[in-house]
Amino acid sequence: MPEVSNKLAVVTGASSGIGLELAKIAAGEGYDLIIAADEDQIDVAADILRSIGVTVDAMRVDLSTKEGARDFARFVADNGQPVDLLLANAGRGLGKGFLDQVLDEALHVVNTNVIGTVSLIHTIANQMRSRGHGKILVTGSIAGFIPGTYQAVYNGTKAFLNSFSFALRHELKDTGVTVTCLMPGPTQTKFFERADMLDTEVGQAEKDDPADVAKAGFKALMNDEGDVVAGWKNKLQSVMANVTPANILAEQHAKMAAPGTGKD
Ligand SMILES: NC(=O)c1ccc[n+]([C@@H]2O[C@H](COP(=O)([O-])OP(=O)(O)OC[C@H]3O[C@@H](n4cnc5c(N)ncnc54)[C@H](OP(=O)(O)O)[C@@H]3O)[C@@H](O)[C@H]2O)c1
Repeated sequence: MPEVSNKLAVVTGASSGIGLELAKIAAGEGYDLIIAADEDQIDVAADILRSIGVTVDAMRVDLSTKEGARDFARFVADNGQPVDLLLANAGRGLGKGFLDQVLDEALHVVNTNVIGTVSLIHTIANQMRSRGHGKILVTGSIAGFIPGTYQAVYNGTKAFLNSFSFALRHELKDTGVTVTCLMPGPTQTKFFERADMLDTEVGQAEKDDPADVAKAGFKALMNDEGDVVAGWKNKLQSVMANVTPANILAEQHAKMAAPGTGKD
């Protein structure tokens, strides 16, 4: 059982996948938790996390809106405990060609990954800056380095988040607040099923363990690193992406993300 403390971590998208693993690590390190997701599973996650021995408050909230982010920030403030760690991880993917996507679903990806994330960080990072203390982890992606043919909107949101994280980190230097960008590669979570990409090569490929990805992200966060790409294959891919023309990257992405590219 972790030592009793008054440290607090806020984790969005903590009901499954990478976010649940991040929350488990934070709980194991003795952080009390405030967690959010937009479906009932968040209450199941809260029970799992309580069994680690920390206090857990959970909110079911749609973080794809400014209002949802505001309500969640209020829920956090009402707790009365300052936020030591903010793990802004909630996110959605969406496959298929852009014109074949339902526009509202594509906009939901933008709203969740960009609007919700930026809105929540604006409120909580301001509070951290006023106190001169806090650490923020943003879940970006190596997808942010690659124009995502057949995943165009999603990769665009992750390019935004990667870029935003690096910039905010520099704006907050010398304030006591650090910003770290976790950039996973394909990871074994509900992500590809929810993105309707199970018939694609990347959807069927072997993927990283979300526990390992979370471990790499949490370690980088605690070490005040600017970014971490989880896993050596992804590290290699991100290095290659930085020296490959965008047009070629876009062509390569189609081969793994186009509908029907999976073997099964
Ligand atoms: N899996 C990958 O290959 C991969 C690679 C790179 C980056 N990422 C990023 O990692 C993060 C976590 O994804 P994951 O792979 O762990 O997938 P996941 O298992 O589907 O988890 C996504 C989490 O985000 C929450 N969420 C989604 N939309 C939300 C909304 N509008 N409001 C509140 N919560 C919302 C989900 O809650 P509900 O279940 O309640 O909707 C869930 O807790 C995402 O930002 C994703 O883009 C994933």
